Amino acid sequence: MADLKMNLAGIKSPNPFWLASAPPTNSGYQVQRAFEAGWGGAVWKTLGDPILNVSSRFAAVHFNSQRVAGFNNIELITDRPLEENLKEIYETKKLYPDHAIVVSIMVEPKQEKWHEIVKRVEDIGVDGLELNFGCPHGMAERGMGSASGQVPELLEKQTYWVKEVAQTPVIVKLTPNITDIKAIAEAAAQGGADAISLINTINSLIGVDLDTWNTIPHVGGKGAHGGYCGPAVKPIALNMVAECARDERVGIPISGIGGISNWKDATEFMLMGATGVQVCTAVMHHGFSIVEDMIDGLSNYLDRKGITSVTDIIGKSVPNYSDWGNLDLNYKVVARINKDVCINCNKCYIACEDTSHQCIEMLESSGGDKYLEVREEDCVGCNLCSIVCPEEGAISMVELENEHKSMTWNERQAVIGTLGK
Ligand SMILES: Cc1cc2nc3c(=O)[nH]c(=O)nc-3n(C[C@H](O)[C@H](O)[C@H](O)COP(=O)(O)O)c2cc1C
Ligand code: SF4
Ligand code: SF4
Repeated sequence: MADLKMNLAGIKSPNPFWLASAPPTNSGYQVQRAFEAGWGGAVWKTLGDPILNVSSRFAAVHFNSQRVAGFNNIELITDRPLEENLKEIYETKKLYPDHAIVVSIMVEPKQEKWHEIVKRVEDIGVDGLELNFGCPHGMAERGMGSASGQVPELLEKQTYWVKEVAQTPVIVKLTPNITDIKAIAEAAAQGGADAISLINTINSLIGVDLDTWNTIPHVGGKGAHGGYCGPAVKPIALNMVAECARDERVGIPISGIGGISNWKDATEFMLMGATGVQVCTAVMHHGFSIVEDMIDGLSNYLDRKGITSVTDIIGKSVPNYSDWGNLDLNYKVVARINKDVCINCNKCYIACEDTSHQCIEMLESSGGDKYLEVREEDCVGCNLCSIVCPEEGAISMVELENEHKSMTWNERQAVIGTLGK
């Protein structure tokens, strides 16, 4: 069986699966049960100055038959006293010395405030700190969370203040509510962060009740934007992780978060540069026990591939991710329909006819059977027909022999630039 142990900037855990800082890590009782279930680490629910939470705070998007395709919350950081949290963190660490306990912290953007919280948390013995610069609501209105996390200079300065006193590794958690994630990740690295984690939640409003005209959720008739997470945000999170991983100016380990629900999601994040992953929504939906399948799935995958340590997959897909200008303009795929599998629903025909390149022909055999065939010379290989096709294996995207040499847009522009010189 492959070795699943991981080491994120010096923070070690028996496997790469951590709980993200959120309701599942709100107390010692929960984190201890999570470790028993198999989680390798936990980032404790964010500690800071006492706050008040509102009632009615979660909502979800159920998409067709999938419940909780997206999840939204207007919850703030912990509403439990600091002393109580610190006592439970201490007890949990004593009981589970080999598991990773990272404590998420968030305070006002003042040097003395950061120094004080870092010392208090580290005094009880933790494996690392995570700075929450991502919370998009409530705390942001007070200058904390994403209000700091959206301004590179503020994030860099506060990371630096933490590093002035921190004895354990410091992970900076990033907000996705920003135009260029790399700018903020670079600021974290510049401030001395040992690692970054991303993403926190995305600004969102789940919906509006058509009868009452209230927002969903609402608090006594008033709503406020919340933070979106769960399966719906995975592609956004994966891209942001990949962008940071291939940015040499970031250059520090990454803890991947956002829509991870199973071992496949986790493996994708690791292939795209994450050293380990954190999970929140999937655990809120299904409970701690999902980690069993995550561990089994990842182990089996590594064994199938003949890989002996999970660390060997970190970043393996990063070289395959680039800018559009580096893609080969001469690479060509076309759609091919397998008549034996096709159920003649015509979804592909309509998609191509109405919204792509009108290159699927409706034909009739000599026996009078109707069938569809792609006119390959006109097919641009957009994939749309294969995406809308409900029948597995009915459409394959097939690579055509390339008669031209590979030529990217950037190479083409360079050649054009030399013409006439
Ligand atoms: C109800 C709720 C509360 C959260 N509270 C915190 C928090 O206190 N600190 C923090 O850093 N992130 C918090 N998060 C964000 C999660 O840690 C995580 O970054 C986000 O949910 C994306 O992961 P997911 O798609 O697996 O849920 C919270 C998320 C939810 C749903
Ligand atoms: S790949 Fe695109 S262009 Fe080609 S047949 Fe399918 S929908 Fe049409
Ligand atoms: S969408 Fe798929 S199953 Fe439906 S007609 Fe096209 S190939 Fe056949």
